[in-house]
Amino acid sequence: MTLLSKRIAGVKPPATREMTRLGNELARAGRSIVSLAQGAPDFDTPRHVREAGKAAIDQGKTRYTDVPGTRELAEAIRRKFERDHGLRFTAAEITIGVGSKQVLYNALQATVDPGDEVIVPTPAWVSYMDMVMLAGGTPVILRCPAEQGFKVTPDQLERAITGRTKWVMLNSPSNPSGAEYTRDELVALGGVLLRNPHVWFMSDDIYEKIRYRDEPFPTMAAVMPSLATRCLTINGVSKAFAMTGWRCGYGAGPADLIRGINLVQGQSVSHTSSVTQAAAVAALDGPMDFLGPFVAAYRRRRDLVVAAMQEIEGLTCSVPDGAFYVFPGCQRLLGRRTPDGKTIETDMDLCMYFLEHAGVALVPGSAFELPGHFRISYAASDAELAEGMKRIATACANLT
Ligand SMILES: Cc1ncc(COP(=O)(O)O)c(C=O)c1O
Repeated sequence: MTLLSKRIAGVKPPATREMTRLGNELARAGRSIVSLAQGAPDFDTPRHVREAGKAAIDQGKTRYTDVPGTRELAEAIRRKFERDHGLRFTAAEITIGVGSKQVLYNALQATVDPGDEVIVPTPAWVSYMDMVMLAGGTPVILRCPAEQGFKVTPDQLERAITGRTKWVMLNSPSNPSGAEYTRDELVALGGVLLRNPHVWFMSDDIYEKIRYRDEPFPTMAAVMPSLATRCLTINGVSKAFAMTGWRCGYGAGPADLIRGINLVQGQSVSHTSSVTQAAAVAALDGPMDFLGPFVAAYRRRRDLVVAAMQEIEGLTCSVPDGAFYVFPGCQRLLGRRTPDGKTIETDMDLCMYFLEHAGVALVPGSAFELPGHFRISYAASDAELAEGMKRIATACANLT
């Protein structure tokens, strides 16, 4: 008898973490490594949020809270949805998890039965596919190449829907491509969902505040109010407020769905830290003036990385609309040889070559279910990025 369950047989550790771990291992062994594999802002959490966390400890906010989270945080989230999107939720329609990752995970656990299908347009965040499998479902991967802006078309979506489809999971702006769906594109996808009333929509809005377009951010439940009864809108404080280690995300949707999510949470982690919840209230209700400089820095870094990638023979690179990733295409480098005579067959080979020969940790596109690319996270300092770009350019020039 084997120890591990059949359910986890096909599940992999997140490639983003794996590449970071490999880079750290080489760094510990004395190598100079530029780590651009992980999507964690390099900024500090804003001061007023840190102060709120410290005050919560001193005020004794250190005990268990209710499973869906504290009333104060649910209220702050309610205000956030109303302020930013005109969406109105009651406390029973809001859940708070240990990062938005937990909300995504809980939602799938609460709703997916064996054999159910979950449509994931790719490239998509590495964890979606594995989370669906952990819930016993089947991920249905829809590859969306650069030529269609890394975005799913209504036609493609319509053709993928079957009687077993439970969810469509969409993340905009996207990790890893940075592509953002416009309001009109969401309306067109929403039209497909209106014709398929058994399909639910998961909107992962975690990069909502890190975007470079001027138009207001469109989210499905606001853009298509008639779909709101089958939408789960997910967000969190990790990316916008540089709070990845605090672990707080939230979701809002129909009360029945939220009740299911809370059941899963109540029998697993109970809730995220009480101290984190107090800090998250300060984040959501507090001043947002720090965001302008954060986003300006990200935009400057995006431009630096895109310009560097567009210079390199053999790579293609589009300009991302948001998030903090660039996703160059490397198909033309496949088949070339490294200085020590190895052939680069795949994007994974290329990323291993970048890591081992150039000391740059990146993530292959195949981990995001769009092979022939790699992802650069530019949530790193300007100096690290400049050095990383120089190393990638040299490594590419050394291929023959
Ligand atoms: C698309 C996407 N969704 C969700 C998450 C999870 O973020 P957190 O759990 O920190 O809220 C990430 C983190 O990288 C992400 O890229």
